[in-house]
Amino acid sequence: MAPIKIALTKGRTEQQVVPLLAASGINCSGLRNKGRKLIFKDDPRYEFILVKGPDVLTYLNSGTVQVGIVGSDILDEQTNFQYAMLNLSVGKCRFVLASTADFNPQQQRRKIIATKYPNITKRYFEGIGEDVEIIKIEGSVELAPLIGLADAIVDIVETGTTLRENNLKVYAKLQPVNTKLVVNRLALRQYQPQIKTLIKNLQAADQQAARANQIEELSK
Ligand code: PRP
Repeated sequence: MAPIKIALTKGRTEQQVVPLLAASGINCSGLRNKGRKLIFKDDPRYEFILVKGPDVLTYLNSGTVQVGIVGSDILDEQTNFQYAMLNLSVGKCRFVLASTADFNPQQQRRKIIATKYPNITKRYFEGIGEDVEIIKIEGSVELAPLIGLADAIVDIVETGTTLRENNLKVYAKLQPVNTKLVVNRLALRQYQPQIKTLIKNLQAADQQAARANQIEELSK
């Protein structure tokens, strides 16, 4: 049987998910010492590719990979035709509207909002009946209100460190974000037993890690 191809989001998601994959019984030796490599075949059952979040959906939607591990921020922002099969307890964070201390959410002038997530931002402001101008930024979004490019930002907050270190405040809490395992619809039929096993083992490892974290939090 050919290995199942899994697109894993590089960076924070990868760092949080690789220990779970290893705990679920997958050989992750290459992923743990990856250097600049992008494809990992250490476990004969799986082939991992490391890609940026939005590209996980490009690979999934094209059918070139069967499984993706990606944040719900990317799923909510982009068009995705696949099934989200498993919510992982890692990667939990939240979208917020943030700005400098002198920002007035009731300002009369049409607001300019900078974000990496124009669709989520558009939906949020449409939902509260406000017409805003949206500027798409590729990263370090926190700079925009500090430099005068925008009145405020819509971005993800995880620990809150980036906002704090840049003297920005939260003005509204939007939807929560978590990491999800997504499966290509066709692959779900073709590889059903293998995908079920992957999900069952990963879910068990995730639940165990979540319980261990809870105990650690309680003992602090
Ligand atoms: C994300 C997000 C914030 C930061 C929040 O950026 O866009 O900037 O993390 O995390 P914190 O609350 O733990 O500080 P990322 O690190 O992905 O980099 P980027 O700014 O280049 O997009």
